[in-house]
Amino acid sequence: MASLVLEKVNAGYGKLQILFDVSFHVPDKQITVVVGPNGSGKSTTLKAIFGIANVYSGKIVFDGKNIAGMPPHRIAKLGIAYVPQTDNVFAKLTVRENLEMAGYGMPEDEVRERVREVLDMFPILKERMNQKAGTMSGGERQMLAMAIALVRRPKLMMFDEPTAALAPKIALEILDIIQRLRDEHGITILLVEQNAKKALEIGDRGVLLVGGRVAFEGSARELLEHPDLGRMYLGLVAEEAGGS
Ligand SMILES: Nc1ncnc2c1ncn2[C@@H]1O[C@H](COP(=O)(O)OP(=O)(O)O)[C@@H](O)[C@H]1O
Ligand SMILES: [Mg+2]
Repeated sequence: MASLVLEKVNAGYGKLQILFDVSFHVPDKQITVVVGPNGSGKSTTLKAIFGIANVYSGKIVFDGKNIAGMPPHRIAKLGIAYVPQTDNVFAKLTVRENLEMAGYGMPEDEVRERVREVLDMFPILKERMNQKAGTMSGGERQMLAMAIALVRRPKLMMFDEPTAALAPKIALEILDIIQRLRDEHGITILLVEQNAKKALEIGDRGVLLVGGRVAFEGSARELLEHPDLGRMYLGLVAEEAGGS
């Protein structure tokens, strides 16, 4: 099991409160998509869960345990991985070195085994083992960031706008990989996306954040097809919002 529940989370940076009574569920082995306008607190939500932003009150319950206020390394140990939007690889290190770093502290042969597993999911990285991460394309770097997170076999993965600034075709590839993480590896996913339509189409659950508050929580389809919310906050056109 790897479910996450936020209960009335109030969080921010120092005294600056950003999230107000944020509550939603991230069910086991499903993709939960968080969407909302710029500055609505999407990234802060992931940072609060991962122990980077300050949680003032409320509960963040992962597999029955309240993790609110825990330091990031302990949260990672419980099986949560966080792929930030930027600076998610070591640009000056090679692909191989990045993957080996990800297994820091684990027995060497175990790291080798995990790296082999992960490379099977990202064959393109196999051809790039000796390339410095900073010289790769945006899409390849995003795949490396995902691979790094996977080395520790997380139960829950959080992605912050993994398709931002990528060409549409590469963006779809990344979303396809995220679906496979759910379907083939049983990983629970919390996905923050600016590409609301595409993300909600692959998602199971949808959460709309506006001004640091939850404006909607329900099935991804409901949010996608909502007559007003999509148009008001997500730039979805009514006809398009029906999807396929
Ligand atoms: N490290 C920080 N310190 C202070 N304020 C921050 C910090 N990071 C983000 N903020 C503020 O928090 C608000 C929400 O930001 P964010 O969670 O990044 O929104 P989103 O990801 O939805 O665009 C914004 O007003 C932003 O300026
Ligand atoms: Mg953000």
